Amino acid sequence: MNRPFSPTRVVVTGGAGYIGSHVVLALGEAGYDVLTYDNLSTGNRDAILSGELVVGDLADRDHLTRVLTEFNPAAVLHFAASIEVGESVTDPLKYYRNNSANALNLLEALRSSGTGKMIFSSTAAVYGNPVQLPVTEDAPLQPINPYGASKMMTERFLADLARANTDFRYVALRYFNVAGADPEARLGQDYANPTHLITRALKTALGIFPKLQVFGTDYPTADGTCIRDYIHVADLAQAHLDALNYLTAGHSSTVFNCGYGHGFSVSDVVAVAKKVTGIDFPVEETARREGDPAELIAGCGKIRKQLDWQPRFDDLEVILRTAWEWEKKLMRPSTL
Ligand code: UFG
Repeated sequence: MNRPFSPTRVVVTGGAGYIGSHVVLALGEAGYDVLTYDNLSTGNRDAILSGELVVGDLADRDHLTRVLTEFNPAAVLHFAASIEVGESVTDPLKYYRNNSANALNLLEALRSSGTGKMIFSSTAAVYGNPVQLPVTEDAPLQPINPYGASKMMTERFLADLARANTDFRYVALRYFNVAGADPEARLGQDYANPTHLITRALKTALGIFPKLQVFGTDYPTADGTCIRDYIHVADLAQAHLDALNYLTAGHSSTVFNCGYGHGFSVSDVVAVAKKVTGIDFPVEETARREGDPAELIAGCGKIRKQLDWQPRFDDLEVILRTAWEWEKKLMRPSTL
């Protein structure tokens, strides 16, 4: 039977993944009734700390439509996606299938079920190599890898759909480099083969990887390594709640950058990782990784102003420390 409409009922695709699970927890703590829709291809059932789980694939549009119709959410938060820039270069079709084609399925299911709001996990990768830094939301979208292109296409689907239908509104959040873990270490990143810098560095400190490779030291930056705007996952989760409130209040569709407005180089991150762990782990300088822009820093004035977003963990050491607590906990599964 279809459930009655409630403004606090939401569906989260990819809620068993790293970012999705932090948002599911934050939604639960804020009093939302959450249904996670996830195929568990990379996510973990144990990471869902609030609401219910339906195991399902976005490729299965009929199933998705049934779930949305029965749960009758006020909004969908869409996280489920493939997320590795490097892999997107070698396997582009996987990214266009999972990130673009499946998003189209989701939007069709939303229309069929009458769900009128969506929050979309977009990425700073839509900007490519920005001409101006910090990069603001109105900068041209010129992705330099299939990952960024696949997300840009979905932004376009959303914009066109909202233009054609006044009963549909969305917020696209362009994430910069999401890192860190729940400050109470209830959640964190837990992938079979992590590729992100901070996770690789900490797992190297733990001896899981023999060395950390630094991909490129000849970029046009002060120390030659790439610069990124690292944002704590708990602050990003709060941005989703703020975006949901924004749509519930009746505001119009838009896009927000999610970052702190300042960046750190790969070498900076390595130094802080060594400080936080107290371990001088092996580091090897290697060639550039394909698809990496030299520098990405968020212009974050819009989200601070229009969502009144107030980050609490804007500190690289805190990001590393929370991630480190989580990594140590993963090493002791019996205490979970
Ligand atoms: N890096 C290394 N060694 C590693 C891993 C990464 O030197 O073992 C470098 C990368 O070359 C890059 C930087 O660290 O210069 C950050 O790389 P990540 O893989 O941690 O993150 P990306 O910047 O590639 O991508 C992340 C998200 C994307 C998002 C992007 C936006 O995965 O979804 O941030 O800034 F689009």
